[in-house]
Order: sequence, then structure tokens, then C-alpha cells
Amino acid sequence: MSKINLDNSQFDTQAIHAGYRRDSDYGALATPIYQTSTFTFSDTEHAMKVFSGEMAGYDYTRAGNPTVRVFEEKIALLEGAEDAVSASSGMGAISSAILGLLKSGDHIVCGDTVYGCTDVVMREILPSLGITTTFVDTSDLAAVEAAVQENTKMIYFETPANPTMHVTDIAAISALKAKYNDIRIVVDNTFAPPPIQYPIRLGADIVVHSVTKYINGHGDVIGGVVCGSKDDISLVRSRAMGKITGTPLTPFCAYLIIRGMKTLGLRVRKHCQSAMALAEYLEKSPYIEKVYYPGLKSMGADYDIAAKQMNGLYTGIISFVVKDGINGMSSFDAAKKLMDNLTIPAIAVSLGDPDSLIQHPASMTHIKVPKEAREKVGITDGMLRFSVGLEDTQDLIADFEQALKAL
Ligand SMILES: Cc1ncc(COP(=O)(O)O)c(C=O)c1O
Repeated sequence: MSKINLDNSQFDTQAIHAGYRRDSDYGALATPIYQTSTFTFSDTEHAMKVFSGEMAGYDYTRAGNPTVRVFEEKIALLEGAEDAVSASSGMGAISSAILGLLKSGDHIVCGDTVYGCTDVVMREILPSLGITTTFVDTSDLAAVEAAVQENTKMIYFETPANPTMHVTDIAAISALKAKYNDIRIVVDNTFAPPPIQYPIRLGADIVVHSVTKYINGHGDVIGGVVCGSKDDISLVRSRAMGKITGTPLTPFCAYLIIRGMKTLGLRVRKHCQSAMALAEYLEKSPYIEKVYYPGLKSMGADYDIAAKQMNGLYTGIISFVVKDGINGMSSFDAAKKLMDNLTIPAIAVSLGDPDSLIQHPASMTHIKVPKEAREKVGITDGMLRFSVGLEDTQDLIADFEQALKAL
């Protein structure tokens, strides 16, 4: 255990020291990787005590592992949660949170622009288990209330939403709990991890993350986590993840994540500062129709809520729309050409890496979604999503300058 009073420490101190235990064998500073599937016992009495829960300990890595536990304690403290349970991917965490906390007959109110695979879980997998979902724009509080039914047990959303950057008021949605019994508020905080946004402090019950993104932050791990109260995490751990359906994070991935998290604050602040500068640059460009970034005043109500709940850091992801008609090109072709003209960003999905990543939803992530359906949620032909990396801000702006001029 760390000697530091972490409850009174600032974010960067917590990110480095939370969860840390001094290695009892050799005093290693870095958390050792306990790369083992099983754990041994000194004798049968010892085994009995660990299996019965009378004594703390580990028996099998699917159910728990010391390296993985350091990560879980670190993220729980940073999110202001009592506990956390990790998973082998963001989707593992999301499905485990739902399966662990809900049962047949329950209903979910879900944001209408959630990550594609989350949408598939809600639309295609949960109904066969007797769990139904109504999709609404969660930035519209009245629409959320209208969708609540007697059996609604969960309100689930992402904010800012991907890739439209609509912002949902976490405190306002969480306040609905006072009116309707037994509803858990679940926020996918992947786009705005601490120190940007703290949903639990704003009244949410559960935070889920694709740890693959900013939390690990180096583009070399797939992982996920669910954070919440001790009781909820215990339910998720025992009913869905770990021992039962089995989507554990590996000790090696946990080690990489712990290492990545030591610089979470530094990285996230830089991602956000560069994103703000680029969003302002793009907003002034004659080639760009519209920029979606919660830190821009032109986002109107989205900006007003973001200014309240995002701690002055507005994520490192920008969506923007290239104009139709540049040199006779459609916005679809101009967006593709702009991506090809850029030299720094890699053409790739994912986000939150040190490397800038750019993608064109209409020809990549949303290529199979009918045009009318994607346009209905604001994903137009000319829209690009840019995950601003940790490269020099001026180099990124210069790259956009040359790429736009060459359209
Ligand atoms: C907002 C959001 N949630 C969840 C996920 C799923 O995470 P993973 O790819 O780690 O399973 C993603 C992946 O891109 C995401 O963007």
C-alpha cells in the first residue's frame, strides 16, 4: 500500500500511486507482472481459508490477479468509485455491466448515438435474453423521461457522443433517480476520462471504459473496466465477468495499462489542448463546413453543458465536415482526399493514442449503415473524425494547412 494520503492528493499524484503495493519480495518499484494462471497454497488449511474468503488471496487468474487488481484500484480511485472490475475489452466491460446488473424483463433507455457494438448488444443480443431497449437522444432530458417505463432499470449513454459530439447533462439525467426508483445511470466515459469528466461525482452509478483508448493511451492494449459501488461491482464480478462468463484482463495488459496511466493527466491535457487549437483552426478554414467539438462556443447547448461538466478539458477528438463542391468534388470525395493528403495522422479507427488517427465514418465505420440512417444522427458524407495525438500542435496544424490547400 502507498503511504501517501491519496484522498487528499491531486490527480497526477493519484494516477501514479493509487493501487500501488510495495513488492514484498524484492521491493520492485514497477508493479510485477504476475503471469500465472493459478496460485499455490502452503497447505490445505491455507487453501480452505482463501477459497472460503476467510483470508485474502488469489486462486485462479480468471477470477482475480494481483497485477490486474492494482489497475482496478487505481482506476476506481481516479473515477471516484468504491470499486472497479476490469475486462479483456471495452465491450467485455459493457456487456458484463449490463448482464451483471439487469435481468430478463428489465428495460434500458439508451443514447441513440452509442458505439456500434454497444448498439448491436442492445438491439440484437439483449432482446433474446428478455431485456428491451428504447433509444433516445439523451441530450434531450424530456425525451429521456418520456422513454422511462415501469420496468426501466438503466439509463445508458456516452458523452460526448461519437462522432456527433452531442453532450448529455450527466447531473440532470442522474437527478431522475429521485423520481424513478431503482434506475442505474451508466456512462461510457471512454471519450472523456479523468481528469476531464467524473460521472460518479455528478451522480452516475456506473462508469464503463474502453481502456484501449486514453486510459492505456499507447495503442497497444485492448481492455475495459466497470467502476461503481462495492455492491454493484460485486454483482458484475460474480454474475458476469471473471469466474463466470470469463472475460478477464490479462496480467500483461494490466501491467501496460498501469504504466500508461502514470502519465494519464499529462497526456490527456495535451490531447485536449491540441484538439482545442485544431478545432479553432478548422472552424476558420474556408474548406470546412462545420466543426463538432464540445469546447467550441458554436456548439451552443452542447458547449454550455460541457463547460459545466468537463473541467475545462473537452476531449481530444474532433469531428468536422468538409464542404461540398470544392473543385467540383462531392463532400464524400473531398473528405477522402483530405485524409489521403494528410501526412501525420494514420488512417485508422480507435482513438486516444499518442499517434493522431483519422477516419471517414461514411466509408469506414458506418459504411454498412444506410445513408439516411446515418444522416439522421448527423453522420454526413463529408464528416471526418480526428483523434488528435500527442504530436506537436503546430506540426498538426501545418499538416492540415497543406492538406486542405491541396484539395
Ligand atoms: C465509446 C466506446 N465505447 C466502447 C468501445 C469498445 O471498446 P473495445 O474496443 O475496447 O472493446 C469503443 C471502441 O471504439 C468506444 O469508442
